[in-house]
Amino acid sequence: MTRRVLILGATSGIAQETSRCFAAEHAKLFLVARDPQKLAAVAEDLKVRGAEAVETHQADLNAYSDHPAIINRAASVWQGLDAALIAHGSLPDQALVEKDSLVLRDALDTNYFSAVSLSMHLATVFEAQRSGVLAIIGSVAGDRGRRSNYVYGSAKAAIATFAAGLRLRLLPAGVKVVLIKPGWVSTPMTEHLPQNFLYISAQKAGRGVYQAITSPTSVVYLPSYWKWIMAIIRSVPEPIFAKLKL
Ligand SMILES: NC(=O)c1ccc[n+]([C@@H]2O[C@H](COP(=O)([O-])OP(=O)(O)OC[C@H]3O[C@@H](n4cnc5c(N)ncnc54)[C@H](OP(=O)(O)O)[C@@H]3O)[C@@H](O)[C@H]2O)c1
Repeated sequence: MTRRVLILGATSGIAQETSRCFAAEHAKLFLVARDPQKLAAVAEDLKVRGAEAVETHQADLNAYSDHPAIINRAASVWQGLDAALIAHGSLPDQALVEKDSLVLRDALDTNYFSAVSLSMHLATVFEAQRSGVLAIIGSVAGDRGRRSNYVYGSAKAAIATFAAGLRLRLLPAGVKVVLIKPGWVSTPMTEHLPQNFLYISAQKAGRGVYQAITSPTSVVYLPSYWKWIMAIIRSVPEPIFAKLKL
């Protein structure tokens, strides 16, 4: 079976690696990203790596009015979709979002509202098909608010709650909703941050996302040990947590 896969935010470091896994199994890929040059380079790379077909669509995913057309085109080009990955995101400067409402709004649009809007349109497609996997990249940052990134974290927490509800809605239709929560991954998003031993490569994260889509379960921590790290982090009492420089 040739899988038909939609990748939203296809130039993301993690998504590129996931797409390479799909290319290796000769899938058909529909790529959406905002930077046309990067998008063309990613598409070429995936063709060389074995993708049976690659379609591209340039779009700023914070432009909600474009969402129905993007999803309709992706769903019609190969008469259906087997999976969709929502991978776009941004790690805003916390100090800036505390002062600038427009930057704040953009961060919430990118990390929450746009993903919700896209998911709603995808849900309609998958529900009508009575099949499909919708995968959304959340983050361990959504598991507990931290002073260093609580706006980003709150968007990721909200998308986790949204995904949980959507999963229940789509259950009777046989549609799977997978929330993937990576820990730290070395990608352009984190290149300005000091790296530590908990960082994994984009390649490892991308493969994990591929496995989460092809063997879908509800919530996937990447790597899996983050489930236990976050269980400990969540259990730290607030007065102690307040003293930690996190
Ligand atoms: N890296 C980590 O440590 C980490 C950890 C947990 C979760 N995540 C999540 O993993 C996902 C992928 O991130 P990444 O690590 O692969 O980072 P990345 O390489 O910086 O990718 C982020 C992608 O989002 C795209 N994007 C941002 N705003 C957009 C918009 N308005 N419209 C269209 N595309 C937009 C960017 O496009 P441009 O190429 O045009 O900038 C870029 O391709 C994100 O949801 C992120 O929150 C990452």
